[in-house]
Amino acid sequence: MSESTFTFPADFVWGAATAAYQIEGATHEDGRGESVWDRFSATPGKVRNGDTGEIACDFYHRYPQDVALMDQLGLDAFRFSIAWPRVYPEGTGAVNQAGLDFYDRLVDALLARGIEPFPTLFHWDTPQALEDVGGWTARATAEAFVTYAETVVSRLGDRVTHWTTHNEPWVIAWIGHAWGEHAPGRTSEAEAVATGHHQLLSHGWAVDVIRRAVPHARVGITLNLSQAYPASASPEDEAAAWQVDGEGNRWFLDPLFRGTYPADLLERNELVAPLVQDGDLETIAAPIDFLGVNNYFRFVVTDGSEGPRMVRDPEAQITDMGWEVYPDGLYRVLTRVSADYAPPAIYVTENGAAFGDVRRHDGRVRDPERQAYLASHVDSVAQAVSEGVPVKGYFVWSLLDNFEWAFGYSKRFGLVYIDYPTLERVPKDSFYWYRDFVARQKAPAPSPAGPVAARST
Ligand code: FCB
Repeated sequence: MSESTFTFPADFVWGAATAAYQIEGATHEDGRGESVWDRFSATPGKVRNGDTGEIACDFYHRYPQDVALMDQLGLDAFRFSIAWPRVYPEGTGAVNQAGLDFYDRLVDALLARGIEPFPTLFHWDTPQALEDVGGWTARATAEAFVTYAETVVSRLGDRVTHWTTHNEPWVIAWIGHAWGEHAPGRTSEAEAVATGHHQLLSHGWAVDVIRRAVPHARVGITLNLSQAYPASASPEDEAAAWQVDGEGNRWFLDPLFRGTYPADLLERNELVAPLVQDGDLETIAAPIDFLGVNNYFRFVVTDGSEGPRMVRDPEAQITDMGWEVYPDGLYRVLTRVSADYAPPAIYVTENGAAFGDVRRHDGRVRDPERQAYLASHVDSVAQAVSEGVPVKGYFVWSLLDNFEWAFGYSKRFGLVYIDYPTLERVPKDSFYWYRDFVARQKAPAPSPAGPVAARST
C-alpha cells in the first residue's frame, strides 16, 4: 500500500464519526421518546435479522470507555449526532432535560481529553410523534426542527463551535420516503421531494438561529456526494451521468449555494414548485461556514432504455456493502464542489468501508482492506488539499461497528470491532494504523511540504 508523503496543515482536523441511533442504545432511558427508527426496526421485515437500535453499542452508558479509545487514537474531533427524541420526546412541547444532560456529559468528556465535539443535529431519527402528523413531508416539522436546534445550541453552544444541521438529506428523502427502505418507509416520489425541501428549509432557518444563539458558531450541513462518471464518452452516457449528478448532488448543492433548484430536472421541479414559498430559496442559500461531504463510492452511468443505468467495472474491488472502492471519486468530488460551489471550508464528514471482519483466536481483528481503503482515500484528500481545495478535516466512518440501518449489525464499518453479545470493544488493526497515521501528522518528519507523491490509485 502506498502512502503519500504529503504533510497536511497542522490545524487539519482528524476525526471519526458516528450517529445517535446507530450507537447509543438506551432507547427507553431517561425519558427518550420514540423515533421513526424504533418503529421501523420493530416492524417485521424492515431490518435484516430483525435487528434494532435498542442496545446498539450501548454508547449511552459506555461513552467514557469510547472517549478513552478516541484519546488513544489521537483524534482531534468526534462527530456524533444528537437524538431529537431524547431532547423533545414528542418532537415539540416539553424539553426533556435528562436527554440533554447526556450530551452535556459527552461534550465535557470529550473536551476533558482535548477532543473537539462535532455534533450533527439530525441524523435521521425523527420523533415518531412528528411522523404521525406528516413528518418531513409537512412544513411544520421544519419549524419544530428549528426550535429543537435552538434548545440544543443554547445548552451546548458555550462549548461547541462546529454545528452540522442535517446529515445526508438525499438519503432520508429518497431511501426513506420514495423507496421505503429506511424509516419511515414511505414510498412516494412527491413525499421524497417534500422531505428534501423541508429539510433544506429547516437548515436555512437553523443557520440563522444558531448564529444568534452562539455568535462564534461555525455552521454547516453534510451531503452525501458521489461523482457520476459516464460509462463512455458518448453524449448519451454523458447526459445520463449528468442526470444522476443532478438527482443526487445538484438537487441539494444548487439550492444551498445558488438559491435555485437545478432546472434540468423537470419532473422534480414540478413536484417541488408548489411547496416553495416566497423567501424559501433565499433562506436555504444562507451562507454557511462549511460543507460536510460524505463519500463512499462513485457511480458509473450509462444511458439505458428507461433512463440512466448504473454499471460496474468488472475489475472493481467492492466492499461488503457492494460499493466500489474508487478513491479518485473522492478527489473528484472535492475538486468539483470547490470549483463549482466554492464553499469556504469542506470537511469530509464520513468516509470508510465495511468488510467482513472477524476476531481471530489470538483476539486480533486484521482488516488490511480497510487500512488500504482509508490510506488511499486520505491520499485523495491530500491531492485535493495540495491543489488548494479548502478541506479542513477528515472523519473516518466509523469509530465503532454499529447498527447499519436496514442492514442491522451485519455490516462492520468500525475502527473498533464490537462483540455484540458482550459489547466488548476490540480495536482492529486499522485502529492502530489510523492512530499511527494521525501521530505522524502531529509530528511530521522534517521534509519540505511538497507536492503529493505518486497516488496509489
Ligand atoms: C451514510 C450514513 C451513515 C452510515 C454510512 C455507512 O450514508 O450517513 O449513517 O450508515 O452511510
